[in-house]
Amino acid sequence: MSSPVIVLVGPMGVGKSTVGQLLADRLGVGYRDTDDDIVTAEGRGIADIFVDEGEGAFRELEKRAVRTALTEHDGVLALGGGAVLDADTRALLAGQRVVYLSMDVEEAVRRTGLNVARPLLAVNPRKQWRELMEARRHLYEEVATAVVPTDGRTPEEVAEAALNAL
Ligand code: S3P
Repeated sequence: MSSPVIVLVGPMGVGKSTVGQLLADRLGVGYRDTDDDIVTAEGRGIADIFVDEGEGAFRELEKRAVRTALTEHDGVLALGGGAVLDADTRALLAGQRVVYLSMDVEEAVRRTGLNVARPLLAVNPRKQWRELMEARRHLYEEVATAVVPTDGRTPEEVAEAALNAL
């Protein structure tokens, strides 16, 4: 049984995969992403799972994927933006090095506003972002051992700040 070197949490579009891969390269370890694990295991995209079975079913798959990855992976692990909604997942993150990549709402709208492939933002991105951030910010903060703001920073700068924050 192993444990990740770093777990990345934060909203969708904040750059967890890009920064996670940079961090993994810098640390000479592997990179893993629970969204990718779910897509591989299910053989279909996240948006399709939401449409076919609903968010609740996706959250169950996500909870299992996070639990498995936390015990199997010993590199950098990025979690989907909503993984922290689950109380059992939050409990599993206690004792891990968890970096919360944060961004403000306007930055989030700029980065993902037109991306209709993301099922949680399809109707009114700015309003939905505000609600998502209000509902989740404290959950990210609860599990985080370090918070790294990403607004106005390149992925390389964010990765550097994350390494310094460890
Ligand atoms: C979600 C974030 C997505 C993906 C799904 C739901 C969320 O992951 O798990 O669309 O609830 O915030 P990313 O944060 O990797 O985009």
